[in-house]
Amino acid sequence: MSRPDKHQPESLEFATVAVHAGNRIDPGTGAIRTPLVMANSYALPEDPSTIDWSGTDVALYTRNSGVNQIALQQKLAALEGGEDAVALATGVAALHAIFFTFLRSGDHVVVADVTYEATWRLFAELLPDKYGIEATFVDASDAEAVRAAIRPRTRLVHTETIGNPTTKITDIAAIGRIAHEHGALLSVDSTFTPPPLYRPLADGADLVVHSLTKYINGHGDAMGGAVIGRRELIDRIRSEAMVDVGGAISPFNAWLISRGSITLPLRLAQQQASALTLAQHLAADPRIAYVAHPGLPEHPQHDLATRQFGGRGYGAMLCFALRGDADVQNRFVAQLKVITSAVSLGHDESLIVHVGTGGPRVAAYPEPFRRWGHLRFSVGLEAVEDLRADLDAALTATLGPA
Ligand SMILES: Cc1ncc(COP(=O)(O)O)c(C=O)c1O
Repeated sequence: MSRPDKHQPESLEFATVAVHAGNRIDPGTGAIRTPLVMANSYALPEDPSTIDWSGTDVALYTRNSGVNQIALQQKLAALEGGEDAVALATGVAALHAIFFTFLRSGDHVVVADVTYEATWRLFAELLPDKYGIEATFVDASDAEAVRAAIRPRTRLVHTETIGNPTTKITDIAAIGRIAHEHGALLSVDSTFTPPPLYRPLADGADLVVHSLTKYINGHGDAMGGAVIGRRELIDRIRSEAMVDVGGAISPFNAWLISRGSITLPLRLAQQQASALTLAQHLAADPRIAYVAHPGLPEHPQHDLATRQFGGRGYGAMLCFALRGDADVQNRFVAQLKVITSAVSLGHDESLIVHVGTGGPRVAAYPEPFRRWGHLRFSVGLEAVEDLRADLDAALTATLGPA
């Protein structure tokens, strides 16, 4: 009871793939959606003596494989245009899985100077201290800086498409060429730019990472992470970092994320449109010190973003600050009635988080971030009029009328 025509994503539009990829008519029940299977173990064949207990190609044990993990992995591979995908417990587990699998003691990594906190800490502290892996942090928006940082032992270049939090953009094709000239892999955290906005594999990335916790699930109710890429690379991650380190995703989360991802293209279109409207609105307000969003012409890599993302948008993340100190930013956030103060991003609801001017990472941030701190704003699915009114009312309550 399968419909083979559902498994030819290359012939289908993205929205169709988002609905159907990975899903199968369940052979046991005839259910037309892949059911949730919470079993830890699957029945062994009559003679299991030749089974590879570390294998991941048949459902055996949920840390190796399972119905819902396989469904999600097939879907993610189809959405990103990759040969294969491995789903893990969180985005950080996915990042760690790449570094654990492809790096060894004495290796060197070139890593973007603006990345998610845990990536920065892994390369600034944990991997050098514990495993003797060396990292050079560079401005990844400058391809020549990436080239200059490469050493004979460079095995990996790692960056984010839109850097968290400053929204700095990397030219993926350019640094992919540089990495490959030197025999290194390029891994790209594309959490801020889920498909269909951008597919880094098409521009030469070897591995794409997502925190599924964010846009791909989209509902703020399940954590997950994934790496997508060529089969031989994903197989290594699966056997070395999933089976033997153990950051497997729970079947329930895999099921929730498969379901959430069905509406990804619709959600992303709405969120991107609202984010651009709100970025423009805030940028025109004299009470606002600065706005960072790649869709604004004054963004330093606006042209690169337009070219690289093919006019499909600029993501739905922005950072800004009010003209005032940390207390002013906090008072503003406390006045918001629709937008929620919480970490994470890419959820259905709008989320804002006030990040100050301290800490070692801030040295790499642009001047307005260092001066004013920033409010990282993940624009959600609420009506844009309500979001605009919420921002305006909170601004007026904090700083008076414009
Ligand atoms: C760009 C980016 N990568 C990875 C992660 C980590 O994802 P998770 O929280 O699912 O571990 C985050 C979390 O905010 C992120 O923003």
